[in-house]
Amino acid sequence: MKPFSVRMPHLGTENAFSVISKAKKFEREELEPKGEKLVYLQIGEPAFDTPDNIKQAAIKAIQEGQTHYTPSPGIPPLRTLIAEKTSPRSCVKYEMEDVVVMPAAKPVIFHMINALVDPGDEVIIPNPGFPIYESVVNYLGGTVVPLPLLEEKDFNFSLDDLKKLITPRTKLVIINSPQNPTGGVLTESTLEGMAKLAIENDLWVLSDEIYDNIIYEGRHVSITKFPGMPERTVILNGCSKSYAMTGWRLGWAVTKNRQMAQYLEQLIINDVSCTNSPTQFAGIEALSGPQDAVKMMREEYRKRRDLLVSLVNDIPGMSCKSPKGAFYLFVNVKSILAKLGLNASQFADRILREAHVVILPGTAFGIHGEGYIRFSYVSSETDIQEGLRRMKEYLSKIL
Ligand SMILES: Cc1ncc(COP(=O)(O)O)c(C=O)c1O
Repeated sequence: MKPFSVRMPHLGTENAFSVISKAKKFEREELEPKGEKLVYLQIGEPAFDTPDNIKQAAIKAIQEGQTHYTPSPGIPPLRTLIAEKTSPRSCVKYEMEDVVVMPAAKPVIFHMINALVDPGDEVIIPNPGFPIYESVVNYLGGTVVPLPLLEEKDFNFSLDDLKKLITPRTKLVIINSPQNPTGGVLTESTLEGMAKLAIENDLWVLSDEIYDNIIYEGRHVSITKFPGMPERTVILNGCSKSYAMTGWRLGWAVTKNRQMAQYLEQLIINDVSCTNSPTQFAGIEALSGPQDAVKMMREEYRKRRDLLVSLVNDIPGMSCKSPKGAFYLFVNVKSILAKLGLNASQFADRILREAHVVILPGTAFGIHGEGYIRFSYVSSETDIQEGLRRMKEYLSKIL
């Protein structure tokens, strides 16, 4: 057989998906006593159901025959709504032509990096960070330059940290605020300083704002607020997290760079032709209908965050601060790892097999995640309580 392309071995993955299948297999085949259930505290998707008005909009669209190809960058009313919704948050007047709708937010990452990166180009990526950024850059032959997000800096970075990483080969910087996996939110002054650096060094920015509605203090700020940025930035957003619509697959790119918007549209034509039609009608309802569910979910996450933070800090050897956004908790377990002689990945595996709780090792998000584990607090309060009870009991036995 002739070999696969040289690119394939460089493609990474998202551990959250492989861990679920590993955990399910363990639950089915090895977990004793039979019928016992694992507690899942790793999943990055809202446990709420999609609000009913959104479901009804999709059903109506299907019944009215909206079941064919749509324009590749999305249906005009949805693109217009996305532009209108994005404008006040970014202080930029976006128009329909600045929006490219995609089947979820993840393809924005793939296609923007594809549009920009040649072998040898450097891309600065938050570390720990969403693993797909790194995977796609490596796949396309680019060079990943990790930007450490450290606990002592509230999972922000200093401008000096960033400056040191910029070289003439740097093409793109990726930011994500509120952030997965740390829950950190970049401060306005960090974003302002970063905007200056991006302009001085002629850099593109991918601003992943998928958690912009899940912020517990203050308001979301986009880097596009700073002059000169909308033309060199692609904002990534979508319905998955804010509207509990992970399975619908609806996301979008917003940019004032028309050439970038055209290339993204062309990539979509080559890839999927267009986004699922009824899903786009559901998206119109999500954005234009009542927003009570978004508020309700955020308030629920806030309660769950507070519960989880207090339970975690009650376990000897674990510590974390209260994150400002998203629905993840990045917990320092360095002293436990040192006592047990394990790394974060071995520890997460041990917790699965012995305490029967599913969590992710910090290293699933990059090298700077060593010494940490990630919880997600989308699960019910009962699951959070039970999961932490199991972990506390187990750790008190072995430490
Ligand atoms: C930071 C970040 N960006 C993008 C995505 C992808 O979102 P979607 O499910 O809409 O593809 C996720 C999903 O977990 C995420 O955490």
